[in-house]
Amino acid sequence: MPGKEYGYRMNYQWYPGHMTKAKRMMQENISLIDLVIELVDARVPLSSRNPDIDELGKNKSRLILLNKSDLADPTENKRWMAYFRERGFHVLEVNAKTGQGLKAIQPKVKEACREKIERDKKRGIRNRPVRAIVVGIPNVGKSTFINSFAGKACTKTGNRPGVTKGKQWIRLNKELELLDTPGILWPKFESEEVGKRLAMIGSMNDEILQMTELAQELLAYLLEHYREPLFERYQMEEAGGPFTPVQAMSHICENRKCYKKGQEPDYEKAAALLMDDFRSGRIGRITLETCGEMQEEEQSEEGTA
Ligand code: G4P
Repeated sequence: MPGKEYGYRMNYQWYPGHMTKAKRMMQENISLIDLVIELVDARVPLSSRNPDIDELGKNKSRLILLNKSDLADPTENKRWMAYFRERGFHVLEVNAKTGQGLKAIQPKVKEACREKIERDKKRGIRNRPVRAIVVGIPNVGKSTFINSFAGKACTKTGNRPGVTKGKQWIRLNKELELLDTPGILWPKFESEEVGKRLAMIGSMNDEILQMTELAQELLAYLLEHYREPLFERYQMEEAGGPFTPVQAMSHICENRKCYKKGQEPDYEKAAALLMDDFRSGRIGRITLETCGEMQEEEQSEEGTA
C-alpha cells in the first residue's frame, strides 16, 4: 500500500519540478504587484501557509484572508486574527463560497496600501489602481475567492506595458486590479504534523492516505478538544464513556451501522463517514490548530534553536 510508505508526508514526486516553476512564476508576478492577498484555511492557519511567502512578499503590502472561516471555530478565528495582526499583517475572516466578509476587503486594501497611495499622490500619480495577486496552497479556495470577489463586475484589461505578455488583470474598480490567475504555492514539507492536518482537511490525495489511521488521529483530537460536538453528532452520551479513539470508532460503526457481511464492523466505511462529516462541517466548527498550542510550539522551537 503506498499510503503506508507516505504516512502523511507530502507527495515529493509531484512537487519538486512544480515547486521551482511555481516559485519562479511567483517571483515574476510579485514584482508587478503592490499587494499580496494570501489565503489560508482557517482550520489550519499555519499549516496551510507557504514557508517562503514572507520572503517572496517582503516589501509588499500583505493581507491574509482566513478563508473557510465558516468551518472553523469562531473563537479560534478571533484568536488567529489577533495572532496575524500582532505580526504586522492585515487580516480578515472570510467565506469565499458564500461571499461573507468580502465587503470588508476593499477598505482593508486601502488601509494596507496607504503608503503606496500616499506616495503616488505626492508624485502626482493619479488613478493608478492597487495591483494585487491572490496566493495560497492548493485547495484553500483561491479560485472560489477570485470568482466571488471579482464576480460579474470584472472586466479583463488585457495586456499593457510593463505587464508580462499574457497576464490578465481583472479591474474590480478604479482603485483595485487583481491578477486573474492565482499564485499556487506549496505547503511545508518537513513536518509530518503539517501533512497530517492537511490530510484531515482534505488537501491531500485521499487515495494515498490511510483513512482509518487518519480518522483515529482526528478522533483523538476531537475527544480532547471538541468532545461535546463529537458526542452529540454520534449520540455518544447515551452510550456512556469515557472513549478512547478506538472505542469511539467502534461506536461510530455501530451508530452509523457500518458493517461488512456477517456483522463484522466496517472501520473503513466509518472512517470515511467521519472524515466526510468533519470536512463538511457536520460535526461542528472545528479548528485543528489552536492559536495557544501553536504559540507554545513556536516558543519551544525557539528555545531549542
Ligand atoms: P483552490 O483554487 O485554492 O485550489 O481552491 P478552490 O477554489 O478550488 O476551492 C476548494 C474547495 O473549497 C471547493 O470545494 C470550494 O467550494 C471550497 N471552498 C472555498 N472557499 C470556501 C469557504 O470559504 N467555505 C467553504 N465551506 N468551502 C469553501 P469543492 O468540494 O472542491 O467543490 P464544491 O463541492 O464546493 O463545488
